[in-house]
Amino acid sequence: MPDPKITVVYYSATGTVHALANAVVEGAQKAGAETRLRKVAELAPDEVIQSVPGWLEHAEATHEVPLATHDDLAWADGFLFGAPTRFGNVAAQLRQFIDTLSPLWLDGALSDKPVSAFTAAHNAHGGQETTLMSFYQTFMHWGAFIVPPGYTDPSVYAAGGNPYGVSADFAESGPSEGALEAARYLGRRVAETARTLALGRERLVTA
Ligand SMILES: Cc1cc2nc3c(=O)[nH]c(=O)nc-3n(C[C@H](O)[C@H](O)[C@H](O)COP(=O)(O)O)c2cc1C
Repeated sequence: MPDPKITVVYYSATGTVHALANAVVEGAQKAGAETRLRKVAELAPDEVIQSVPGWLEHAEATHEVPLATHDDLAWADGFLFGAPTRFGNVAAQLRQFIDTLSPLWLDGALSDKPVSAFTAAHNAHGGQETTLMSFYQTFMHWGAFIVPPGYTDPSVYAAGGNPYGVSADFAESGPSEGALEAARYLGRRVAETARTLALGRERLVTA
């Protein structure tokens, strides 16, 4: 079978979730996946962006990352979505992209594909898990196969033991090495799940 195709869609204002997204891509590639890394469009007004240290700098540093399109999801065998926690929920920029996806949903292009999520928040108990669960409510509507990390790898414990997805505490220096390793693991796990599903489908066809 061909290598699994994995799309990683993220939003990041100041770089934490972007670093996690890169680590997710790295892990998926290590599992042999072809990957697409895509950001979503910024919605915040310029004056807000300029008022927060690092926001404008990060936007400029990542201006070459392509914007996510519907084709990026139709193309993929599996996805991962990442966004900062905003008042305990998914950042509006990523939510807005998700809210454009009904044509893909109607076509069944989001169903039966493995999917997982990652986030960052300022505080250790500032809403990481509620943000991940909010992503998963949407994924259930798609009929996608949610792939949580659970406690299936030592990297989960080393990153703080979040079985729902990957989460990082915000730090100016970026996510901890533990969180990055958990993100690499999650990318690998979703890619391996996509490969397993594809092999199973091949066997069903030839059975
Ligand atoms: C409007 C807003 C709401 C936020 N809400 C929360 C929150 O509920 N809990 C929390 O711990 N951090 C909160 N934060 C902090 C962000 O989660 C943190 O800045 C983010 O994880 C950094 O990710 P990034 O570097 O990828 O942008 C909030 C930040 C903003 C601007």
